[in-house]
Amino acid sequence: MDTTAATAEARVTTRHDGVVDRLPAAFRWGAATSAYQIEGAVDEDGRTASIWDTYCRVPGAVDNGDTGDLACDHYHRMPQDVALMRDLGLDAYRFSVGWPRVQPGGKGPANPAGLAFYDRLVDRLLASDIEPWVTLYHWDLPQELEDAGGWPNRDTALRFADYAELVYDRLGDRVAHWTTLNEPWCSAMLGYVEGVQAPGRRDFGAGMHAIHHLLLGHGLAVQRLRAANSGGNPLELGITLNLSTAKPATDSPADREAARRADGLGTRVYLDPLWYGRYPADVVADLAARGVELPVRDGDLEVINAKLDTLGVNYYFSMLSSGVDEQGRAADADGNPVGRGVLLGLPQTAMGWEIMPDDFAELLTRVGRDYPGVPIFVTENGAAFRDQPDAAGFVRDHDRVEYLASHIAAVARARDAGTDIRGYFVWSLLDNFEWAYGYDKRFGIVRVDYTTQQRTPKLSAHWYRDTIRRVRAEG
Ligand code: NOJ
Repeated sequence: MDTTAATAEARVTTRHDGVVDRLPAAFRWGAATSAYQIEGAVDEDGRTASIWDTYCRVPGAVDNGDTGDLACDHYHRMPQDVALMRDLGLDAYRFSVGWPRVQPGGKGPANPAGLAFYDRLVDRLLASDIEPWVTLYHWDLPQELEDAGGWPNRDTALRFADYAELVYDRLGDRVAHWTTLNEPWCSAMLGYVEGVQAPGRRDFGAGMHAIHHLLLGHGLAVQRLRAANSGGNPLELGITLNLSTAKPATDSPADREAARRADGLGTRVYLDPLWYGRYPADVVADLAARGVELPVRDGDLEVINAKLDTLGVNYYFSMLSSGVDEQGRAADADGNPVGRGVLLGLPQTAMGWEIMPDDFAELLTRVGRDYPGVPIFVTENGAAFRDQPDAAGFVRDHDRVEYLASHIAAVARARDAGTDIRGYFVWSLLDNFEWAYGYDKRFGIVRVDYTTQQRTPKLSAHWYRDTIRRVRAEG
């Protein structure tokens, strides 16, 4: 990492340091990315199209018409990026495997050239003393599987389990930490219900079917990885969910109902079957009222209820729930109950997300209480701000430092309250392709200049490195 003026300036202290310092020395520190958001090289070494390659070509779907074609060119710059991680002193790096890169078309044999990339990445991480944390699905479904029906189609869950095993066969001797799915809520709701992410469908029933098949795919993959791990290599399996609190905007019955429904489809519809092997009765009843039934077959819930070793939580913000629209109506044009997120008027990130670290602590405590028994890892947390680089490309992102420090302090407070949280991954290592927002929204602690591909650690990267060192030494 550059150690000139930037380092001198990097001794940033925050009002949260005292709380952050209560984290133990053994706490795991990491950074996260995902394949489509950083790799580029979309046509190389046998990779085929994913739903994101397709979606990016729909006019108006992605801001500025941006695509992941080049992204951070990580596919070619991986050694340099691992060196950055080593300079930061990370314990762990969470990345995803691109499904269409390692299994073109989403079925059939592995693509050795695609797998070789992750093989090299894992070896380089291990040689740098950084634990690889592999996410198997971070939204880049092979386009062929979408053409065959996508996640609303049960077969996609079976294909996912095959793919998971194929990756495990190659990397399982060196990778202990496996996450099946990243944020299935986004895949189902944003991809199939709201149509604001790939594949851009707008069909409530399809989205609900997607939820079940994502969970089924998770459970089948867990079974397959455990069975494949006959050699006794360490294996820690988890799933990553994006969660938030769901509080009513007012005490009115409509708002309280909206909060219940938001919690139902945001949190409990995932965690209840994973933990307790059943879907929440109130969610099932809400769906029935809309004429939708989850496509559950005999035995599915036992599969989904497979034992986990970790739970990954991604947190960015929360909103209040309102059960009425701006005109005060409680039902939409189709007669369905209104459920709307309302802001509180707090400071926001560049995404328009309100900064709510207290809700993070509350959320973690609630999850640990209602879904006990496995350690939680914060697999993503971070913020986009309107970074202003100086002439040398250095960004003094005090706003991001404050965001990260306040949220890490929230983790420490939730731990103090008895929640078993063992690690934190910042989103993201690098500025990258922020899905439908393109490159305009920058979440990195390292700046990427997209014309030169130059990486410049921001003030927040220096601060993160110093925080890791301090807690490791004193925690
Ligand atoms: C969650 C997603 O997993 C990640 O891909 C995305 O970039 C961040 N949130 C920020 O929106």
